[in-house]
Amino acid sequence: MPEEDVSQIADWKGQSGERWVAYQTRLDAMMAVFGQAAIEAVAPATGERVLDVGCGAGASSLNLAGLVGAGGHVLGVDISEPLIDRARAVAPQETPAVFQVADASSAELPEGAFDILFSRFGVMFFDDPTAAFTHMRRALKPGARVAFVCWRGMAENDWVRLPMGAIKGILPPMTPPEPEAPGPFSFGDQGRLARILTGAGFTDVTIAPFDASIPFGKGETRDAALDDAVAMTLEVGPLARALADQTDDIRARASAAVRAAFAVCPGERSVMINGATWIVTARNPAS
Ligand SMILES: C[S@@+](CC[C@H](N)C(=O)[O-])C[C@H]1O[C@@H](n2cnc3c(N)ncnc32)[C@H](O)[C@@H]1O
Repeated sequence: MPEEDVSQIADWKGQSGERWVAYQTRLDAMMAVFGQAAIEAVAPATGERVLDVGCGAGASSLNLAGLVGAGGHVLGVDISEPLIDRARAVAPQETPAVFQVADASSAELPEGAFDILFSRFGVMFFDDPTAAFTHMRRALKPGARVAFVCWRGMAENDWVRLPMGAIKGILPPMTPPEPEAPGPFSFGDQGRLARILTGAGFTDVTIAPFDASIPFGKGETRDAALDDAVAMTLEVGPLARALADQTDDIRARASAAVRAAFAVCPGERSVMINGATWIVTARNPAS
């Protein structure tokens, strides 16, 4: 297994997974609008069976469960034990959603079992995405629908472009990640995304841009909201990873620079920052 994939998996099983648990409520509020757009694109019906890939703490799985109802079924799979523990802990007893720790790219999944393959930001971390989608397709019924939301490129996403730009010159020079390496922005290229899905055997692929303003920070005052946005950016996501092994001095300077960069964003008791995604739909061939 290539090194990059090992580190993505290890990261979600360890530190990133734990930090996501700590910030779960906030992250869910930030991601909700994007997940909702993907859910609307696939329009689950009562009684349908859904596979939610990279389900994290389960917010989307529970939303989907509400739509498919008691006669339906949602299987949320995630590689991160802390996040699946959280999903199980917050799930109401009567939900038709169940959660399983599994690597979706290789775990044994029931064959031909699901009407819908869904994901909210959980499918960009595979080392070999075509092989992973080919594997997950086997779990789908003929004619099943796919809908997921993923980030477009880093340059289009202000929530990462602004802080990453702000810390240039503070951190020692870093090799920029390969755009196609497993990670949050690896599906930024629309052409590549289409090739992955068609290569995995899906048809009717549509890839539509969807942008929304993300409530990044929250507080009683604008200052408190800015502090909150900075704290979160330093704890979760690409900047947190970049700062992980840095000294206190570098972290303090980075924090001040990120705060100044966020100060240009609108919001009264919040900091609203643009997020740019693709809403992707596709279909498993009927036979
Ligand atoms: C950005 S988080 C999104 C979590 C959740 N869908 C949400 O929106 O709150 C990405 C998730 O994908 C999971 N993940 C990464 N690689 C995976 C894999 N190979 N199989 C299953 N889950 C994976 C991570 O553990 C993480 O929970």
